[in-house]
Amino acid sequence: MAPSLDALKAELECFGRSNDELQAERAQRMLNITRDTGEFLAVLVRATQARRVLEIGTSNGYSTLWLAEAAKAKGGSVTTVELSESKVRMARGTFARSGLSDRIQLLYEDAGRVLDRAETEAYDLVFLDSERSEYPGWWPQIRRVIRAGGLLVVDNATSHAEQMAPFIDLVQADPAFTTCLATVGNGEFMAVKALA
Ligand SMILES: C[S@@+](CC[C@H](N)C(=O)[O-])C[C@H]1O[C@@H](n2cnc3c(N)ncnc32)[C@H](O)[C@@H]1O
Repeated sequence: MAPSLDALKAELECFGRSNDELQAERAQRMLNITRDTGEFLAVLVRATQARRVLEIGTSNGYSTLWLAEAAKAKGGSVTTVELSESKVRMARGTFARSGLSDRIQLLYEDAGRVLDRAETEAYDLVFLDSERSEYPGWWPQIRRVIRAGGLLVVDNATSHAEQMAPFIDLVQADPAFTTCLATVGNGEFMAVKALA
């Protein structure tokens, strides 16, 4: 029998903690968002009534569960992108047990390529939790795919402030975006695109 969604989240939290303590290699760590970040994302998706959500950086699918559960409330769904084959395999397993698989499209692909071919203003909310050095190069496409009035949320803004600085500077210099930092979890940098 499939576990309840709450039980599945708790199981992934436990696994992520123990796995990441043991694994020296970054690529083998789950690097999941914190539970309070999941709760925060769920509130953001529901408050903005986001139906088209893009997540960059799936790992084993923990954060996706929070996004998809919230998007489902308004009939929405999540497209989530992951480049690591082993993580994609794990995420597939997570989603199959979640009862949310009809709300999740998992792309095993480089996020840069997904962004390049995405339609303009395709997403209401973009959650960015991936390879931080790539963010400045991805910014022109990220800003293009977020709809007017849509929201960007980026994890690790306080835990990796130095690495995030070039990207945050770019977004803050963009007159089409209003930004803030929410000190939840590892720090959530947020930027809302101006209404057209
Ligand atoms: C911090 S983890 C994501 C954690 C996940 N959001 C969660 O909270 O459960 C970052 C993920 O981004 C993936 N990644 C790195 N570079 C990528 C790229 N260019 N395209 C897609 N995924 C990428 C990594 O393999 C890794 O699994």
